[in-house]
Amino acid sequence: MGTTIFTVMSSLAAEYKAINLGQGFPDFNMNEELTGLVAKAMQDGHNQYVHMAGYGPLREAIAAKVERLYGTTINAGDEVTITPGGTYAIYSSITAVINPGDEVILFEPAYDSYRPNIEINGGVPVIIKLQHPGYGIDWNEVRSKITARTRMIMLNSPHNPTGSVLGENDIEQLRSIVQDTHILILSDEVYEHLIFDSRQHLSLLKYPDLMERSFVCFSFGKTYHCTGWKLGYCIAPAGLTKEFRKVHQFNCFSCHTPSQVALASFLYNEESYLSVGPFLQKKKDYFQGLMGSTQLKPLPSYGSYFQLYSYDGLSDEKESDFAKRLVKEYGVATIPTSAFYSDGTDNKVLRFCFAKKEETLEMAVERLRELK
Ligand SMILES: Cc1ncc(COP(=O)(O)O)c(C=O)c1O
Repeated sequence: MGTTIFTVMSSLAAEYKAINLGQGFPDFNMNEELTGLVAKAMQDGHNQYVHMAGYGPLREAIAAKVERLYGTTINAGDEVTITPGGTYAIYSSITAVINPGDEVILFEPAYDSYRPNIEINGGVPVIIKLQHPGYGIDWNEVRSKITARTRMIMLNSPHNPTGSVLGENDIEQLRSIVQDTHILILSDEVYEHLIFDSRQHLSLLKYPDLMERSFVCFSFGKTYHCTGWKLGYCIAPAGLTKEFRKVHQFNCFSCHTPSQVALASFLYNEESYLSVGPFLQKKKDYFQGLMGSTQLKPLPSYGSYFQLYSYDGLSDEKESDFAKRLVKEYGVATIPTSAFYSDGTDNKVLRFCFAKKEETLEMAVERLRELK
């Protein structure tokens, strides 16, 4: 493994004192009530290991939230496991069930941990490209790639880096492909609340026949603007959770206690997560409005805090060269979308993160206006 473009872009951004719209993290403060609850949990003495599966009341709060949002009853005891972040939940799910030679279908562009996570377990990534520029799934191609060795299909909605989201038709197609098979599903739903334009998040937790074969992974870091907390969870039926916990118990074992205690009460505040979509929609609309004065063209995006922009017609440079030039000459860091493909597919598209203060977005766009 070499150094990834993410590290390269971040170092360049620091070197050139660029505005960093590349990395996916908010530059504004998180909810003070929640940080207060963490401080209180520490002062109240919640500073030792909790249960291997996570703090019980937090798992209960998650089960209650799932019931409210998706109408599904899950068992907090043996279907929910708290993890140090979504990435870890994904890794543990794959490690729990993928054996050497198992094929795993994944869609690219993809979050960068997926493929290495499969390969380190001896699995074989079977890569299908999402269809540029809408980045939908070609289900006929999925059908054509299913073999007797297909063990898992990995999904991510809302999607990083494209902002595409799954619709009812995708769910129907998925259902018809996996029924009567032993194929498992990993559904990465870390951006569950970051969804726009009146779209509904179609969690696999809504569909009992799909849920019974799924690991569904979440991240508090994304929901509560605290990526540095590295806290998330995995929901899976009891049989799969049992396997998941075999990996988890000898890896992290138990996660940061005070944050879990704080979230156990905070999660009952529906507004705290239902307001995230409208809050970020405003940022997205604001950013898109400002970007209208540049020569970059937005691609459709309905979720996550990323927006792709095309520079087609503006330059023939490779995405990585163009992105590096943006940092060096204009002082704005982005991520080339080719970084999310194993074969470096290059559509002249860059990823921007708009989860930033208005003044950060304004400063970045002021610089991008000069782009020629
Ligand atoms: C698609 C996707 N999945 C998972 C994660 C990981 O979340 P966490 O920071 O909780 O590990 C990210 C973070 O960028 C992501 O974009």
